[in-house]
Amino acid sequence: MVLSTAITTIRPMTSQVLDAPDDVEESPQRSPRTRPGLLSVWLFIVAGLVFAMVVVGGATRLTQSGLSMVEWDPVSGAIPPLSNSAWQEEFDAYRATPEFKHVNSEMTLSQFKGIFWWEFAHRLLGRVIGAALAVPFVWFLYRRAIPPGFARRLVVLVLLVGLQGAIGWWMVASGLVDRPDVAHERLALHLVTALILLSALIWVGLDLRTLDQHETADSTPGGEADVSPDASASTELGGKSFPLAVSFIVVLFAQFVLGAFVAGLNAGRIHNTWPTMNGSWIPHGINELSPVWSNAVDNPIAVQFLHRWFAVVVVVVSIALAWSLFRVGSTRLATVLEAVVLIQFTLGVLTLLHAVPVGLGIAHQAGGAALLVVAVISTHHVRPSGHARFEKRDPLAGALMDAPTRA
Ligand code: HEM
Repeated sequence: MVLSTAITTIRPMTSQVLDAPDDVEESPQRSPRTRPGLLSVWLFIVAGLVFAMVVVGGATRLTQSGLSMVEWDPVSGAIPPLSNSAWQEEFDAYRATPEFKHVNSEMTLSQFKGIFWWEFAHRLLGRVIGAALAVPFVWFLYRRAIPPGFARRLVVLVLLVGLQGAIGWWMVASGLVDRPDVAHERLALHLVTALILLSALIWVGLDLRTLDQHETADSTPGGEADVSPDASASTELGGKSFPLAVSFIVVLFAQFVLGAFVAGLNAGRIHNTWPTMNGSWIPHGINELSPVWSNAVDNPIAVQFLHRWFAVVVVVVSIALAWSLFRVGSTRLATVLEAVVLIQFTLGVLTLLHAVPVGLGIAHQAGGAALLVVAVISTHHVRPSGHARFEKRDPLAGALMDAPTRA
C-alpha cells in the first residue's frame, strides 16, 4: 500500500524530470525548488567516498585480502561474524579456496581475521556509496529538487555503482576456482569502472555547481555574467584546449589499464631497477608470447615495460595541457596538474624500486585517482560550452583556478 502510493507519487515526477531537455545551456530557468548547489555538494561527497574506495581497494589487493570472503550476500553480508563459531565457519569456507591451499595453507584463524577486515571494509564502503547515492536521489526527486535534465544523469550514476559492485564480484569469483589470484583483465575493468564513476560524479557535480553559480549571478542585482572581452577570449581559447584535455584523460586511462595489468600480474616484483630493466633498455623475454599483441596483456615483462614508458607519454601530454591551461590564465590549475603528475611518476618509480611495499603501492594508486580528479576539473574548465565565464565564481574550481585573463 505504502509502496504503491510512493510509486504513484514518484512516477509522474520521474517522467517529468527524465523527459526534460538534457542541456544545461538550454534550460537556465528552474523551478524555485531545484537545488543545484546542494546537489553538487552531495555528488562531491559521494566522489570523496569513491576516492576512499579506490584507496581501500588498493589496500585490499596489496594485503592479499581480496579473496578472503567467498560469498556475496548483499544484505546479510553487511554483518561480520559475531561469534567464534561464525568466524570458524567463515574460515572453513576460505580454507576450501585455491588461495588458501596454494598460498596460505599455514594461515591461522587470527591471521585470517586480519585479511578478512580489509575485504569487509571494502564491501561495506561499496554499500555505503550505493546508499549515499540512491537514498538522497529518491529524496531529491520527491522534493523536485533536481534541475531539468539532471535526473537521467543521476540515474546513470546510480546504475554505474551497481555495475561496479557486479564487476567486483565477477572479479573475485575468478580467483575462487582453480587459481589463487583474480584475473588481471577483470581487475583492470574493476579499476577502470571505479575511475569512470569518480570522473562522472565530479563532472556532473561541476555542471550543477556551474548552474548554481549561473542562477545566483542572474538573480543578483548587478550580478550578471562576466562578458568582458578577457573572459570571452579565455572561453574561446579554453575551448581550443578541450581536445587536448580529453586526449590527456584517454592517455591516463590507458596508463591505468597498464598499471592494473602490472598489479594483477605481480609484475612490479620483477626488474626492480629504473630507468633500465636490470641493465637492459629492451629486456629479454619481452616478446615471448604469441600472438605478439598478447604480450601487452599477459606477459609481465612487456606489461611492466609498457607501463614504465607510457608514463613518459603521460608526462609529455600533461605538459602540453598545462601549457594550454597557462595560456588561458589558469596558472594554478596548470601548476597543480604538473605537481600531481610528477609526484605520481616518482611514486611509481619508488614503488618499483622497492618491489611494491604496501604503503607505496597504496600511495601510487591514490596518486593515479588524484591525477584523474585534476584532469577532469581541467577538462571541465576548458569545455567549449560557454560556461567558463562563470567558473571564477565556482568555489571548487576557484580553489584551483585563477581568474581568466587574455593569453
Ligand atoms: C605517471 C603516470 C602513472 C600513472 C597514472 C600510474 C598509474 C598506475 C595505476 C592506476 C596502477 C594500478 C594500481 C592497482 O591496480 O593497484 C599502477 C601500478 C603500478 N605502477 Fe604505475 N602509474 C604511473 C607511473 C608509473 C611509473 C613511472 C612506474 C615505474 C617506473 C610505475 C610503476 C607501477 C608499478 C610497479 C605498479 C604495480 C603496483 C602494485 O603491484 O600494486 N608507475 N600504476
